[in-house]
Amino acid sequence: MMTKLEVLFTRNEIEAAVRRLADEISSDYRDKNPIVLGVLKGSFIFLADLIRLLDFPLEVDFVTLSSYKEQTESCGEVSMDRCFTSDLKGRHILVVEDIVDTGLTLHFLIDHLRAESPASLRLCALLDKSSRRKIPVHIDYLGFTIPDRFVVGYGTDCAEKYRNLPDIRYLEKNV
Ligand code: XMP
Ligand code: MG
Repeated sequence: MMTKLEVLFTRNEIEAAVRRLADEISSDYRDKNPIVLGVLKGSFIFLADLIRLLDFPLEVDFVTLSSYKEQTESCGEVSMDRCFTSDLKGRHILVVEDIVDTGLTLHFLIDHLRAESPASLRLCALLDKSSRRKIPVHIDYLGFTIPDRFVVGYGTDCAEKYRNLPDIRYLEKNV
């Protein structure tokens, strides 16, 4: 049952963090007409909340990457299932991700995006499992650092379940 999972961040705590990130991003991007590039599927709720707090011109695009293949452990292989539609050359790109874990996914994506010659490239992540990092990834705008435990909710999932939880919870494997 969803309600038995232990809450890590309430919806109010998440909202406050998103508001703080939106303030930081607003002061950096107000006149840049950025492309906010969400990594599907986990970032969709975070991105939707974030951009509604940005009151300046921007565009939204998405990329689908997969490294987890319906498991809770990374297999170390990343694939890009669908690429962005926008031309990124000369544009200011803000990547929005739910969780940076080993860093393999974002390292792969950032490498690919750099090759498109954007004017700038930064990363906004809601959650950082920094103790799990295998490859360094610089997070320009971060919501929270979290422990090495699997979390679900607010867009993040376990085998496609729990994305609809309004808060972020630890996934207890025996529930
Ligand atoms: P890496 O290891 O490449 O993985 O940094 C990043 C991706 O793994 C997903 N991930 C999680 N998803 N709960 C989730 O729902 C978690 O605790 C978790 N840890 C990693 C995440 O989607 C991210 O894109
Ligand atoms: Mg993800």
